[in-house]
Amino acid sequence: MSSQEAALKGCATAIAVAFLVATALAQESAKTVADGVYTETQAGRGAAVYETACAGCHRGDLGGGTGPALRDQRFTREFAGKDLKAFFTKTATTMPRNAPASLGDAVYLDIVAHVLKENGFPAGSHELTADALDSIRVLPGRPKPPPPVGDFSYVEVVGCLTAGPQHTWMLTQASAPVSTVATAAPPAPETLAKALGSETFHLLDAMAYAPDSHRGHKMYVRGLLIKLPEEQRITISAFEVVSPACSP
Ligand code: HEC
Repeated sequence: MSSQEAALKGCATAIAVAFLVATALAQESAKTVADGVYTETQAGRGAAVYETACAGCHRGDLGGGTGPALRDQRFTREFAGKDLKAFFTKTATTMPRNAPASLGDAVYLDIVAHVLKENGFPAGSHELTADALDSIRVLPGRPKPPPPVGDFSYVEVVGCLTAGPQHTWMLTQASAPVSTVATAAPPAPETLAKALGSETFHLLDAMAYAPDSHRGHKMYVRGLLIKLPEEQRITISAFEVVSPACSP
């Protein structure tokens, strides 16, 4: 090899390395569906169309019917690791199965936003647009986060049963309230095993549950949360002893 050839080869290698680095950097900085790539408004529009054009086959909760599920493992297996364009193209060119490509790109983008939301990916401040699709990578779907606990949420907590002023009963050193469904089912073992916390709840209608005999016990309480400026209250619908001692 002449020195000139050697120089050229070295140069080519340097270019190849630079290219690889650039590609790696591009991938590193590429957006994913976790970066807030649609807006709430857009997903809301998508949800409305989904309901009329897709839910009949894929179910309102995306759980799958005549058509496959569009969330969870199925979504992950089919679409994770690809760019969002793959999902969009599949949808916009073949769905709804009984009228493919009938809705128009803007509407399909709205539906994609809705599907992302249902797969647990957050909304952001910019709408999803067609030219962004191939620069956004799809990640495995996640379970939707539980709804935030608000006033009049149905919640469950554990805490220490303590006598309050004027014949009231309090749950002290209680765990943060977690949203739950109104059910008569017994509490899950992992909820009973929860650690104490620093919340205090005034228990309404505790008198109906023989509170004196549970004084100082670690209790499980399920019920409706009522937040007042001066205190948090829970109306009891389930009340169970977790342990006769109340230590963290
Ligand atoms: C008439 C029933 C029907 C309707 C309505 C329908 N689909 Fe489908 N969809 C299917 C069937 C069946 C499949 C599986 C066969 C295929 O991939 O073409 C499918 C597949 C898909 C897939 C590929 C999923 C995967 O995991 O393979 C996506 C994405 C999809 N549908 C989205 C939609 C959207 C969004 C709508 C509404 C705009 C819609 N579909 C409306 C029946 C339907």
